[in-house]
Amino acid sequence: MKLAIVVGARPNFMKITPILKAINRYNAANRSTFHTLLIHTGQHYDYEMSKIFFEDLDIPEPHIYLGIGSGTHGEQTGKMLIALERVFMEQQPNLVMVVGDVNSTLAGALAAAKLHIPVAHVEAGLRSFDMQMPEELNRILTDRVAELLFTPVQEANYNLIREGVPEYKIFLVGDVMIDVLIDNLDKARNRKIHHRMGLEHLQYGVVTLHRAENVDNPERLHSVLDALNEICKDIPLIFPIHPRTRKRIEEFGFTNMINEWPGNRIKQPALYAMKPIGYLDFISLEMHAAIVFTDSGGIQKETMMLNIPCLTLRNRTEYPFTLTRGTNTLVGTDKQLIIHEAHKVLAGNRKHADIIPLWDGKAATRIVDVIANWYGMN
Ligand code: UD1
Ligand code: UDP
Repeated sequence: MKLAIVVGARPNFMKITPILKAINRYNAANRSTFHTLLIHTGQHYDYEMSKIFFEDLDIPEPHIYLGIGSGTHGEQTGKMLIALERVFMEQQPNLVMVVGDVNSTLAGALAAAKLHIPVAHVEAGLRSFDMQMPEELNRILTDRVAELLFTPVQEANYNLIREGVPEYKIFLVGDVMIDVLIDNLDKARNRKIHHRMGLEHLQYGVVTLHRAENVDNPERLHSVLDALNEICKDIPLIFPIHPRTRKRIEEFGFTNMINEWPGNRIKQPALYAMKPIGYLDFISLEMHAAIVFTDSGGIQKETMMLNIPCLTLRNRTEYPFTLTRGTNTLVGTDKQLIIHEAHKVLAGNRKHADIIPLWDGKAATRIVDVIANWYGMN
């Protein structure tokens, strides 16, 4: 079975890690085997946005690196389509796997479907019901052309069934981001990056911000930074900055609203910016934080799994169960609401997480078993 896996952006790298491991285990135990072709589109290319994850998570070098880089949506997705189509025509994979909801996901799915190569979508069925989000378009279109839809939670099945996807294509397997988190908890625990920064357990907060609808809008970005500047008077906030956000902060003239982390022990509370950090360091920071502020998708689930309070700087989420059964609260980008909710959490008025079925670290194993059955390997 020749399986092409397409990755390109930061959150893709952690998601494929458990899948590659499960494939290795399958190959070691069975006579029919998977031949994997890992294709990196190059959507993310900075060391801190790509290579660091291959090092941290022992992901093998991609077989093919397309070097597409940044661009507008049409430009970036179009270049990926052209390059991926060429690769698929040459390599003739039996199945193309895509993960998540980034432009590389959609390009991989569309290029394959047009060549009549079946597509497997990992993290299928999630919906924010906000068609302004590029990720929502990527999710819906990818699911529409996929043959195997691997869902992380029951709600995702309901979404797909409501959209008319036949049930035989949908497999509720659990969440590969939870797999990789469980697998790396001990390593992350040993990092203790907060100690290197002179911070104590539960005595700081973590911030990530990169959604286009937040950071490309000067009013919204200003409002969020303003709120964080208020909150950081009480508790230091650590802000590994996504390159999109760094660019916008500079363009909009907001650099006076952040302090660069000096690289050693922090002496006073402030909003400390730094380059994006690797997976193990980030999980380490998250697990000791009193509070996390984010507009990321994945971090809403990670904080739930780690039982750390999370304020999500968005009005909608594709993970509604993190609100009802987890530690997540939607706060949007209104300054006063962010401050109010943060003070509540810091005063001890916080949510605690339930246990989610199938968050057991075995989603990737289930995915590989389903594919092997589907292809008639077992
Ligand atoms: C992308 C995904 C988003 C995901 C995020 C994860 C889409 C539509 N968006 O958003 O869903 O949550 O990745 O981090 O696919 N840049 C660099 N270096 C890099 C990568 C990007 O400087 O290595 C800068 C460039 O200026 C680029 C900008 O960041 O134009 C945005 O990058 P892009 O990949 O288009 O979107 P993200 O905001 O990263
Ligand atoms: N992450 C990381 N370093 C950082 C910020 C985030 O390793 O500086 C990890 C985080 O732990 C999570 C993933 O990146 O596993 C989330 O990716 P991102 O927020 O870029 O994308 P999204 O989940 O919003 O698509």
